[in-house]
Formats: sequence, C-alpha cells, structure tokens
Amino acid sequence: MPSERQHFGGARLNLIRVFRRSILAAARSQFIKRTVSRAPVSRSVVRRFVAGESVDDAVRVTRELVDQGLRVSLDHLGEDTTDLGQAEVATKAYLTLLSRLADVGLTSAAEVSVKLSAVGQRLDEHLAYDNAASICDAAATAGTTVTLDMEDHTTTDSTLRALKQLRDSFPQTGGVIQSYLRRSEADCRALATPASRIRLCKGAYNEPGSVAFRRRDDVDRSYARCLGVLMAGPGYPMVATHDPRLVTLAGELAAELGRASDTFEYQMLYGARPDEQRRLAAAGHVVRVYVPYGSEWYGYLMRRLAERPANVTWFLRAVATKS
Ligand code: FDA
Repeated sequence: MPSERQHFGGARLNLIRVFRRSILAAARSQFIKRTVSRAPVSRSVVRRFVAGESVDDAVRVTRELVDQGLRVSLDHLGEDTTDLGQAEVATKAYLTLLSRLADVGLTSAAEVSVKLSAVGQRLDEHLAYDNAASICDAAATAGTTVTLDMEDHTTTDSTLRALKQLRDSFPQTGGVIQSYLRRSEADCRALATPASRIRLCKGAYNEPGSVAFRRRDDVDRSYARCLGVLMAGPGYPMVATHDPRLVTLAGELAAELGRASDTFEYQMLYGARPDEQRRLAAAGHVVRVYVPYGSEWYGYLMRRLAERPANVTWFLRAVATKS
C-alpha cells in the first residue's frame, strides 16, 4: 500500500507527464503555432531563450558570452523542412553565419549546431548529407566545428550514418546522444572512440515507451551510465545538462578518471542557469552555451516549456503583464 507521500508524489509525476505530452503535442499543431507566433508579446518573451532573429543578434550574443569566458554553439532555428528551397536557405544561413563569425574573430570560441531536418533530411537523406557537408567545409575553413543535433527517434539511424560519413572528411564533427532512448548506452559504446565529440543530453522529444524510458529516474540513470561510458573512453564528452546532480557526477567522474579539464566540456542552453554557467567557467571548466537564433523559434520554445513547468509559469506571467 503506497504511503500518502508516495501517492501524491506519483500523482504529481503523472500530471507532469500529461503536461509535457500536451505541450509537445501543441508544438506540432499548426493552429497553435500560428496563434502563438503572431501574439504581439511572444517575440519579446522568447528573448530569454533565443538570441534574436538576425545573424547580427547571433554574433552580438556570442560576443557577450565569450567575453564572460564561455564558449558557444549557434543553432539557426528551423526544423522539419519540407521543401528544397527552405533546405537551401537554411544551409546558406549557416554559411553566412560562419563567415561572419570568422570576420569578427569568434571562431575559436564559437561553433555551430545543425539539425539535419532543417537541411532536408525528411526530403532526402543524401541531400541533407550534402548540405551538412558544405556547412562542415565552411566551418573547417573558418577554423571551427559543427555538431549535428539529434531529433526524434525516427531520425537517429540516419543522423548517426551522416555523422559517421562526415567524420571521414571532417573528423571534428560532433554528434548527440539522448539518454532517454533505450539504445543509447550501446550507441555511446560505439561512439566512444578517439577524438569523437559526443554531446550527451536527456532528450527533448515525445517518444513512445517502446524506444524510450518514460520515467525521469530511468532517464537520469541512463544518463549516468552513458556518461560513465563516454568519460571512460578516449573521446571528448560534451555534458549537456542543467541537472545539478549530473553536473556534479561529471566532475566526480573526471576527477576519478584523471581527465584534464580541457578533455571534456559542460554545455547548457542560453537562458538556463546562467550563474551556474559562469561558476563552472570560473572554476576552470570549458562551458559551452547553446544559442539559438532566427525567426523559426516556435518548436524550440515549446520544447523548453515542456521541460520545466516553471518556464510555463514564467511565460504566462510575462504574457499577462504585457497584455
Ligand atoms: P531536466 O530538464 O530533467 O532538469 C533537471 C534539473 O535541472 C531540474 O530539476 C533543475 O534542478 C535543473 N534545471 C533544468 N533546467 C533548468 C533551468 N532552466 N533553470 C534552472 N534549473 C534548471 N535535446 C535533444 O533531443 N537533441 C539535442 O540535440 C539537444 N541538444 C542540446 C544541447 C544542449 C547544450 C543542451 C543543454 C540540451 C540539449 N537538448 C537536446 C535538450 C535536452 O535533451 C533536455 O531536454 C534539456 O537539456 C533539459 O534536460 P536537463 O538535462 O537540463 O534536465
């Protein structure tokens, strides 16, 4: 018989799960997307998580963060591209960004994150690969790197295939593993190879139980196992989480395994735990902030709201005070 505390704890967890699923479902609704995107307040509210809409905004925020001792990975917002023209526009946006970063001398501290679905993965895997390769080429010329973001589980194999192939020509290309996927520990073992840059995150999409852990504890335990594999391996782990327990665990593992502070890095999202980002950097760690920019901020914002009920309260309060 569960205690009263366990009972209410379970009810709260169920509520959070339903809430998360509803927000992620809203992220796919064209009607809600149109309504929220057009609301006059939205654009100012998204600024907490998004650098702005233009490449100038991206460069300005990058400079501010770099001046605070942080590194940056820039994401040109956009995903699930359904036409060739859009995929080309997204690719060109990265080429422009990389050349601007090089012009202002920011490429030693700033790289780019690319979603293959933004450059055509749903249309044609080969096209997405070619577009990603031209971004990697521009990044190499500019003196920096690319990390391929990971999207929902239907794209995992295709994205890992592209990563493997890109690394043949651009060995510094990074990939992402999501600890909520049941397959991830095995993927980490396969990817823990010399010079392999792997970002480990929990995962942000609404995945079925057949492929993903649904309980937070299981996702966290899987994260700890994956982290153990990556930290013990010869690659370059990128510890992407705001979770204080996992940040501590990464530090403990690094100390235990004798990893120098320049052989792994912490990563957090723009607008999330900025004090902690600065604290870790001041303690001598490499800390990279993931900075999205562009006009297609809707899907990104919805995933941030789904992660944290506190973010929704903040969002609604901001809307209420501005209206
Ligand atoms: P979680 O959301 O479970 O939070 C755990 C604890 O962390 C909270 O209880 C709280 O204590 C603290 N915390 C979390 N957010 C906070 C905040 N904003 N302020 C204060 N405390 C906070 N996903 C994906 O599917 N594909 C990808 O490619 C990426 N890429 C990516 C890059 C980077 C740099 C990051 C940081 C994250 C991603 N993600 C991602 C998103 C990731 O999968 C995940 O959804 C979020 O990071 C949230 O998970 P956390 O690990 O932060 O823990």
